[in-house]
Amino acid sequence: MSLVDAAREARLRAHAPYSGFRVGAAVQSADGTVFHGCNVEISSYSHTCCAERVAVFKAVSEGHTELVACAVMTDVSPPATPCGACRQVLHDFGPDMVMLLANLDGECVEMPLKALLPDAFTPAQVLEKIKARHGGA
Ligand code: THU
Repeated sequence: MSLVDAAREARLRAHAPYSGFRVGAAVQSADGTVFHGCNVEISSYSHTCCAERVAVFKAVSEGHTELVACAVMTDVSPPATPCGACRQVLHDFGPDMVMLLANLDGECVEMPLKALLPDAFTPAQVLEKIKARHGGA
């Protein structure tokens, strides 16, 4: 099954009773394993989690911290791009990943994540600072 088809399947499980905006995501790790995610809306709205982050957290919690691709499925045209928070989360675990932004009509836009999050903040920036602090700087 293609990564876009995996995102389409994940979208079927979207829990979006408040917005009605159903999103499916699928991320692929460096060894080829695919993890699905859907948006999960919560009655106290701010606790909602986007499909992309659900997919990334599932991958990382199963030990897959290097991601190479992410497909996102919605029913809007042009296909939706990930929100800002998801861009950062995706970037932390796959700065070189390929994004496949798709919709139910078969439109699919491919682009590097870096195009969506140029000049990203990175884990290295935090880790360098921590290293310097523990080195006595
Ligand atoms: N949503 C996602 O799942 N991914 C995004 O990148 C943008 C928004 C969800 C969150 C919420 O459940 C619904 O879409 C409307 O914002």
